[in-house]
Formats: sequence, structure tokens, C-alpha cells
Amino acid sequence: MNEKIRLINDDGLRVDGRKPDELRPIKIEAGVLDNADGSAYVEWGNNKVIAAVYGPREVQPKYLQNSAKAIVQVNYNMAAFSGDDRIRPGPNRRATEISKITAEALENVILTNQFPRTSIDVFIEILEADAGTRCAGLTAASVAVADAGIPMIDLVPSCAAGKADDQVVLDVGKLEDNIGQADLPVAYVPRTGEIVLLQMDGHLTRDEFEKALNMAIEACKDIHALQQEALKSRYSPQKEGGDAE
Ligand code: CDP
Repeated sequence: MNEKIRLINDDGLRVDGRKPDELRPIKIEAGVLDNADGSAYVEWGNNKVIAAVYGPREVQPKYLQNSAKAIVQVNYNMAAFSGDDRIRPGPNRRATEISKITAEALENVILTNQFPRTSIDVFIEILEADAGTRCAGLTAASVAVADAGIPMIDLVPSCAAGKADDQVVLDVGKLEDNIGQADLPVAYVPRTGEIVLLQMDGHLTRDEFEKALNMAIEACKDIHALQQEALKSRYSPQKEGGDAE
């Protein structure tokens, strides 16, 4: 009963059968809400996330208005039914932190100086949570911003890497998050090569950190392709059936 839970088996596979550098399955859809200016839905393993964007619109509360650029306000929220236990509704320290880091990541890519005195409001609702919701939320949010037609330098794919059973692993799962050794969420802008989100929970050696970071960046490039596909299929849905000219 007291036996240590193994996160990587003798075949080198993780508890959910993934290889160390394998992502969970990811599905992205753009434009899922009629009332929002832009929206996106992301399923990432067992995470289910909706992002909605409103704006650029009048700043509320008004004193936050910036005469030089738009402000980006993010509200990350876990639905009461999104976890194993009921999540208490309303803001808390974790949600405030995730909202803040998500807004800062988006501010790096949105051309905010084109919309002075306005607010771009981003709502991220976690319908089902299974570790990695900040990455799934930011991935969805940047597709929703693009879907709203707001000019940006690039989309912002995000993914975590970490360490479990002394091995560096990509896209940390729930059990790995709970009893693993490290979690390193990353957001990367492929067009500029900038890292716009980097957090770390736990301990990594310098070599492990570099390996984990590179793994997360490579995964971000793959996720970026999925984000682009989601937008393409929303705005040019009839890829097949061939009006070539
Ligand atoms: O979700 P993310 O990995 O970005 O953030 P975290 O704070 O490391 O949380 C890891 C996971 O713990 C979440 O994805 C949820 O599955 C779970 N969690 C929860 O069930 N209830 C909370 N109040 C916070 C986290």
C-alpha cells in the first residue's frame, strides 16, 4: 500500500501510456460563440477550455484607461464542476495569478498601440481541468483574439514540460503534476522566438531545465500549427471539393 507510485514504467512509458516527449491529444476550434467578438474551444487531453474575447471596447473601470494603448484584461475561471472536488466560485489567488500572466503574455503580441483608451477583455473558462489549464487557456485565448480580428504579431502557443521519476517529460499530466518533481509552463511566439511566459514549480538542474525548455518550445511549434489550422478552417472551411481557380 505504501509502495511508491511509478510515473514511468520499465518500457519508458508514462502513466497514461505516453512517451516522455509526447503531447496529449489536442483539438482546437475557432469561433464557437456567437455573442463574443472572438472565441475558441480547446480540448487538451481531458482539459476542456473556452476562451471568449470582447473588444477593443470602452475600458471598465475607466481609471484603468491608457491614452497610449489598449489594456488587456484577462479573467481565468475554473467552473465549479471542473475538478474532482467542487471549485469554490469567485476569484482566488491562483486565478488572479493565471489571469495576470496570461494578460502579460498576450500584451506581448497584440498591437495594443493601435487601440488607445480601449480594453481587450479575455475570458477563459475551464470546463474540465486535468493539469495544464493555464497553457490550454492561453493557447485558446490567442486563437480567440485572432478570431476577434484584433491585429497581433503572432499566435501564442503554450505548453508545459517537467520532471517525473527523474526524467524530463513533456506536457505534464495530472498525476505527474501532483507527485512529480517539476512543472515548467512555457509560452513561445514562433515568429519572434520570444518566450512570453515562463514559470517553474519544483526543481530542475540546469541541464534538465534546458532540455525541458527546448521540449516545450518544440511542442509550442506543433501547437501553433494546430492554432493556425483552426483559424483557417473557420475562415476558409471548404478546403476540399476543389475550386482550384
Ligand atoms: O492547471 P495548471 O497546471 O495550469 O495549474 P496548477 O495550479 O498547476 O493546477 C494543476 C491542476 O490541479 C489543475 O489543472 C486542476 O486539474 C487541478 N486543480 C484543481 O482541481 N483545483 C484547484 N483549485 C486547482 C487546481
